[in-house]
Amino acid sequence: MAPNQNLLVAREELILKSRSFQRVECDFGASKGKFLSESALLNKAVFFAGIEGISDRVQRGNRKIKRLGIPNAALWRGWGKESLDDLIPAGFLDTLHVSFPDPWPKRRHWVRRLVNISFLEVAVTKLKADGVLRLQTDHLGYFASMKDQLSLHGGWIESPWEDDLQRPVTEFETIFREKGDPIGRIAVKRLKG
Ligand SMILES: C[S@@+](CC[C@H](N)C(=O)[O-])C[C@H]1O[C@@H](n2cnc3c(N)ncnc32)[C@H](O)[C@@H]1O
Repeated sequence: MAPNQNLLVAREELILKSRSFQRVECDFGASKGKFLSESALLNKAVFFAGIEGISDRVQRGNRKIKRLGIPNAALWRGWGKESLDDLIPAGFLDTLHVSFPDPWPKRRHWVRRLVNISFLEVAVTKLKADGVLRLQTDHLGYFASMKDQLSLHGGWIESPWEDDLQRPVTEFETIFREKGDPIGRIAVKRLKG
């Protein structure tokens, strides 16, 4: 598929905005940017880039970031692994978050799930050599599938969930926690090579 020209322009914007920060993280499927803006306030040496498919959520998130005067976060509109590929330069990210992606619980819809081999093939190229992919979901069937896809892909090694940054809860995590739903989480580091 031909690259999305808007995202190629956005890539230059991302490079400029993030260049004075020590680390860069991306939140894929960032919704209205709650996790993104709170992460940015808690971790001022890190730039947080969000990708979200629904324009209205991107606009609301960016308005909030502007209103709060947060210099180290921004959201861009993009859909699917292609948007990750177009927006993020190779070897650019310290961390990529995918939190509570749509679970598509019916078997006939599993093909629509975001976290699969082809997403992982793009993700691995966007992370630095020791970059980390953090996945979380409330759907334990999807969680099992995520782990299967990671091991089929083979380019990852499990890493501790706790790391050296402060991690706020996401918008959907709050909902699932209140319901007492179990949450599957895994962090994996890119294998060197
Ligand atoms: C269930 S919500 C989770 C939002 C947020 N990550 C959280 O934990 O609160 C999933 C979000 O991902 C977005 N999304 C779903 N599929 C996407 C895709 N293929 N590309 C980009 N965004 C997507 C949806 O619009 C929605 O805002």
